[in-house]
Amino acid sequence: MTAPFLDAKNPADIERAAQLLRAGEVVALPTETVYGLAADAFNEAALRRVFEIKSRPFFDPLIVHVADWAMLEKLAQPNARAKKLADAFWPGALTFVLPKKPEVPALVTAGKPTVAVRMPAHPAMRAVLKAAGIPLAAPSANPFGYISPTCAAHVRDSLGERQPHILDAGPCVHGIESTIIDLSDPDAPARILRHGPVTREMIETALGEIVDTSAPKAATEPSPAGLPAPGLLKRHYSPQTPVTLLSRGTPPPPCADNTRQAWVLLKRPRRPLQKPERTDLFFLSENGQMEQIAHNMFAMLRTLDKGGYSTLFVELPPRAGLGEALHDRLRRAAAR
Ligand code: TXA
Ligand code: MG
Repeated sequence: MTAPFLDAKNPADIERAAQLLRAGEVVALPTETVYGLAADAFNEAALRRVFEIKSRPFFDPLIVHVADWAMLEKLAQPNARAKKLADAFWPGALTFVLPKKPEVPALVTAGKPTVAVRMPAHPAMRAVLKAAGIPLAAPSANPFGYISPTCAAHVRDSLGERQPHILDAGPCVHGIESTIIDLSDPDAPARILRHGPVTREMIETALGEIVDTSAPKAATEPSPAGLPAPGLLKRHYSPQTPVTLLSRGTPPPPCADNTRQAWVLLKRPRRPLQKPERTDLFFLSENGQMEQIAHNMFAMLRTLDKGGYSTLFVELPPRAGLGEALHDRLRRAAAR
């Protein structure tokens, strides 16, 4: 029998999640971006379990979540840029890569001299962090390479019995993983390793400087060498059903009988494209707003992945702002 979800609205369940984590268990927790699979960042056995549950290769380092600045200082050496960006965006969907403290286990950082740290904004995640009093390493709570989970049911669906403890707080607001920015070298420009809800434009405004967005070369094969962030694997965040990308505004072809293709468009048109209304069309938003598209995208891909389709055709959003992150995820989802 599957264990019931822990309920984020119940203070006893928050305390239970914190207790489990302190005792070295792995617990799936909600954040404002996606659900994470959390463990005590200083407990090697618990960290190993996270890799095992996700079938994640050990060369892929984890993000550590902190409750406050004091906790960050136990893990990393912050600098002036980190301070500025924390003032502007923490708690929130921005992860810093900084030089690590020697105490941080090599398992967390894949043996790198840097550590990725984020102070999440989700009230349930913050409550667990505070109650546990320990930094929590948490990758997205999905099998390695699959679509990130944006609600508790997604975690159960794809991790099943491997992950009994799941704290349910409903759907994640952003629905897309945090932005990762490398701040480890104060003499080089800050560099975005993964686009996300905190956009390049927002970061440049806060820092008052240009950031480096030149994508590190995408790796085709998982390999320990030359992989600055595995979100950078050419194929990642992928449904099993093949994805084909459509340039913006491409109209779907007229509906054919017995087609097993799904067409995913950015915005519901004001009037149905065809009557009776087609069942092979899906809309990522009612209003075309990027936030709504991001919020729905992974959930939509997961649902359609179970729909028995031969191909998912997905309309690409414009690349400005949050669109950059959506582009990135969709390109990797579509990579063969
Ligand atoms: O929104 C998020 O970031 C979610 C929630 C749970 O916080 N977490 C998440 O974790 O997306 P994950 O493991 O799925 O993605 C973390 C990314 C990986 O691509 C990893 O390679 C990169 O962060 N990363 C971790 N430590 C790093 C480091 N020291 N240097 C460069 N990249 C690092
Ligand atoms: Mg992930």
